[in-house]
Amino acid sequence: MEIQALGYVGLPTQAVDDWADYGSKFLGMQLVDRGKDYLNFRMDDRRQRLVVSADRADRSGFFGWEVADAKALNSLVARVEKAGTKVERMPKAIADQRRVKELVAFHDPVGNRLEVFYGAEIASDAFVPGRNISGFRTGPLGMGHAVLHVASLDEALPFYTEVIGLRISDFFTVPYRAYFFHVNPRHHSFAMIETGRNGIHHLMMELFMLDDVGQGYDLALGAEKGRIATTLGRHINDQMVSFYARTPSDFFIEYGWGGRSIEPATWQVEEITYGASLWGHDRDWLGEEQLAAARKLKLQAAVDGLREPVNVINGNYTAAPGACPWWDSVRKAG
Ligand SMILES: [Fe+2]
Repeated sequence: MEIQALGYVGLPTQAVDDWADYGSKFLGMQLVDRGKDYLNFRMDDRRQRLVVSADRADRSGFFGWEVADAKALNSLVARVEKAGTKVERMPKAIADQRRVKELVAFHDPVGNRLEVFYGAEIASDAFVPGRNISGFRTGPLGMGHAVLHVASLDEALPFYTEVIGLRISDFFTVPYRAYFFHVNPRHHSFAMIETGRNGIHHLMMELFMLDDVGQGYDLALGAEKGRIATTLGRHINDQMVSFYARTPSDFFIEYGWGGRSIEPATWQVEEITYGASLWGHDRDWLGEEQLAAARKLKLQAAVDGLREPVNVINGNYTAAPGACPWWDSVRKAG
């Protein structure tokens, strides 16, 4: 399949000014351009990764899926058109705005705007974070993951799997229905949660160092009441340690560390039966009944001894020296 990564995202807002500080001084992105109704942020060596827009045309947001080249783009377009979905070739002015060589746009069956592009522009100057963070884990894994609310999973699922070729990582059905999809070793670049409405649920950005997330959590704790939507916790499927923050729009940012890498060639679809999280992630936006159900699942996971090693990358961990017979015996038993 052609899609290699979630390359960029456009988020809708009615509060552009609030997003400027939120994106740079809280999340740590670099604000590189701003207009009356938009902000452009960098997260790495690319000239642009995130657009925040108050333009009415962008009110459902847009999701920029990356392919290798024109050939891959054309092959994906042919399949989307064959499936009966209208595809628009975007003019150069839009490609310039997105900072890519070429892109097309179309809508998924529930009305989200998808863009497919190749040739992202690389900046000539270094990334300068908006606050002192180590940086975002992007590169071949893409900018993070996007999660959508959907009124009906069954309506959207065949389009994402059979037409544009995202591959299912895993899914769960309690305490709500959710499907997760990969396009590279990031466990999921995209997910859909069946909540009864359509829209953006959250965008996840992954940091290099755990302390970046902890320091972001401190900032969120000190911000306005309600900034934290989901407490610090760890997901079962991508093993991300993260919290969710409310944004100046009506969706969340998940701020995470330690996501797992998978091997797409040999990956088998799994059903997850313990819900979304190993521990933590108390969601203040769930109703009382769903919150109680989620807590019950987590406590059962704990009773059943569900735990996973953390996922590190070179340079962000130190292995403790020496031997510990007790730990060695635990590992052998596991
Ligand atoms: Fe997430």
